[in-house]
Amino acid sequence: MTILCKLNDGDKIWPPPIWLMRQAGRYLPEYNVIRNKAGSFLDLCYKPDYASEVTLQPISRFDLDAAIIFADILLILQNFGMGIKFEEKIGPVLEKPLIENPVLNVITEVEKSKLVNVGEAINLTRNKLPREKSLIGFCGAPWTVMTYMINGRSKKDLSQSVKWMEDNQSLANDIIDVLVDLSAAYLILQIQAGADIVKIFDSWAGVLNESQFNNWVIKPTSKIIAKVKDVFPKTPIIGFPKGAHKFYEKYALETGLNIIAVDSELDRDYVRNILQKKFIVQGNISPNILLRGGAELKKDIELNINKFRDQPFILGLGHGILKNTPPQHVLDLVQFVRSLS
Ligand code: CP3
Repeated sequence: MTILCKLNDGDKIWPPPIWLMRQAGRYLPEYNVIRNKAGSFLDLCYKPDYASEVTLQPISRFDLDAAIIFADILLILQNFGMGIKFEEKIGPVLEKPLIENPVLNVITEVEKSKLVNVGEAINLTRNKLPREKSLIGFCGAPWTVMTYMINGRSKKDLSQSVKWMEDNQSLANDIIDVLVDLSAAYLILQIQAGADIVKIFDSWAGVLNESQFNNWVIKPTSKIIAKVKDVFPKTPIIGFPKGAHKFYEKYALETGLNIIAVDSELDRDYVRNILQKKFIVQGNISPNILLRGGAELKKDIELNINKFRDQPFILGLGHGILKNTPPQHVLDLVQFVRSLS
């Protein structure tokens, strides 16, 4: 059994296991080499050899306890016939966002879509990864994926997406239902290929009011988790309702997840006193503090560990590693955590 599964089963693990969101990526020179060889970001995601290689890079360099398969939550959009590109400095750009063109042509069978390449990458990675290390599969949660489908690109202000959902409720619900089925099948495919834990990223959960949160976050996420648990009852599931501070406990209780990922802005006393009473938590060092490194980083790791150490937890970040982070800071973090008694 891998380290995160052991933690999920109640084993005491000290020092805490470490894995960091976006631990593979542009801050690593060896990533940029493969990224250039692959050509585009999407080619990198879809070529199993390359995807597997970049997944393993941070494990070789830092000896982290878990690998997360290199892919993207937006790959699923190709199942909707939505052409997507990742552009330098802009991020994802969709050819046919819903605000312009609400006509969709859906590939409902994951096995018949390019997502099978992610399964192949997982299979290759599992064969190379040391046995005790966990391999995390993932998908985007329906609401977060929909924000990109609606606008066609990253937006800071999501009021337009929310308005589109309210104005087009019947179509929005139909798309959410398709995303639920696809995402569950995709996670199942990833577990069959060798992922021993899966994570559902809801990066934009924080902009919704309570009824929207219930309808677009809790309900669909619970359905995905139930479908996955139906086939793989023992596989731990991590949920990440980023920014949804008022609803974190409700989300953890109602969706059926095992591990809750906490963002850097969530109060650590709340995490300890409320979430850790019932769930394993993961987080929540700030990616900005990791970027700055040094004494400030060390101090924050200490604060984090002292707050969370009485209950099982995964040491990690509140969000993804930033592009300009010196790799040495990640090494410092790992060495510091492993030196603790
Ligand atoms: O190490 C890992 O965490 C695994 C790989 C991973 C990526 N994206 C690779 C990636 C994971 C888990 C994701 C999830 C993802 N993708 C999320 C949820 C987590 C979060 O960050 O909130 C979201 C919202 C996306 C959508 C996405 N992908 C955006 C908005 C962007 C552009 C922003 C940016 O950082 O450039 C991406 C591109 C992306 N996904 C990159 C990487 C390494 C950078 C592209 C590149 O290398 O050219």
